[in-house]
Amino acid sequence: MVTEDEAMRRAIALAARGLGTTSPNPVVGCLLLDLDGEVVGEGFHAYAGGPHAEIVALAQAGQRARGGTAIVTLEPCNHHGRTGPCAQALIDAGVRRVVIAVDDPTPVAAGGAATLRGADVQVETGVRRQEAEQGNIAWLTAVRRGRPYVIWKFAATLDGRSAAVDGTSQWITSTPARADVHIMRSRTDAIMAGVGTVIADDPQLTVRDLKDGTLAITQPLRVVVDSHGRTPEKARVRDAAAPTWIVTTGEVGAGPDGRVDLHAVLTALFGRGIRSVLLEGGPTLAGAFLAAGLVDQVVGYVAPMLLGAGTAALQDAGVTTIGEAIRLDLTDLTQIGPDLRFTASLRQKPSDPPAHHAKPEWEAS
Ligand SMILES: NC(=O)c1ccc[n+]([C@@H]2O[C@H](COP(=O)([O-])OP(=O)(O)OC[C@H]3O[C@@H](n4cnc5c(N)ncnc54)[C@H](OP(=O)(O)O)[C@@H]3O)[C@@H](O)[C@H]2O)c1
Repeated sequence: MVTEDEAMRRAIALAARGLGTTSPNPVVGCLLLDLDGEVVGEGFHAYAGGPHAEIVALAQAGQRARGGTAIVTLEPCNHHGRTGPCAQALIDAGVRRVVIAVDDPTPVAAGGAATLRGADVQVETGVRRQEAEQGNIAWLTAVRRGRPYVIWKFAATLDGRSAAVDGTSQWITSTPARADVHIMRSRTDAIMAGVGTVIADDPQLTVRDLKDGTLAITQPLRVVVDSHGRTPEKARVRDAAAPTWIVTTGEVGAGPDGRVDLHAVLTALFGRGIRSVLLEGGPTLAGAFLAAGLVDQVVGYVAPMLLGAGTAALQDAGVTTIGEAIRLDLTDLTQIGPDLRFTASLRQKPSDPPAHHAKPEWEAS
């Protein structure tokens, strides 16, 4: 027997298994408890177009769902999308009580709780809300702001350098830290870099060598921000390992500096179903994103190494005096091999919707 609170904790962990493959949908987990509080079904939403978490759990539970309780991380949907409405499926299965962590903020899918109440199903909302919001932070932020959630990830020496004077930067961080980055990549929809990094390092920007036992069943979209199409013909980002979008000003327009309009890139990505972007640099593009207020989370891997000179981890983020410093809230600090991983969120502006951050979302379970 489990308590509803414990069951919600498990549902949130299950939901996280869908990170990186459900977009444009959220991650969702569901447990079904029978009248005695025994778990009779569990499920998570694994990929867009696939069955929703509630449907997977109901299929497992069969008749044992009748009279029982559904524990679900997000309000059950109320609409006919590619699959039927989950609220109705729960009613049809005879579920008597539904416990929800987070309300669905999208007008098209919301209303599931009202439908359930209308059918005399007992509904409770807000159980472990903050934890469930954190687990779904990319999707929630994206649907509220109309642009993907942006994580800027970088590697730096203890003195804040991301490359040596001659431009070499491989490798600043250790093998375990780099493996951690591949897990992070596998849980995001797109990996982005500026053309400067592509020319300097020729990165492949794919998910490889996952050591956490999961399979990357889809490769994230690779996005190169390249105003005038300077990406070399032989660049590895052009190989067949993953889809790639080389964004030029000709395609999305230019900002006031004549370079690619970053707001337009994010809007276009949102339109393509992308809900999270891992911005991997380099320092010029990261500075421009920060100056435009388009970064939500920063993940910095800091290595016990000194270079004394070379490229700074961040260039021109629009700050000229200490009073303008971009202040972050540190939410997690973890040692990975010899390196430290700092995770921090950007301070929310009063106009921004609430966003709760703890560990990086790919570790939310
Ligand atoms: N340690 C790390 O984590 C890390 C990560 C990445 C890179 N690096 C290092 O960083 C160095 C490359 O630095 P970088 O600053 O040249 O690379 P970058 O930030 O990847 O690329 C900058 C280029 O992006 C293009 N761009 C297009 N639209 C832009 C916009 N709106 N705002 C800003 N840039 C825009 C610009 O070229 P166009 O105007 O021609 O489009 C710009 O020169 C390399 O030495 C690499 O090793 C280190």
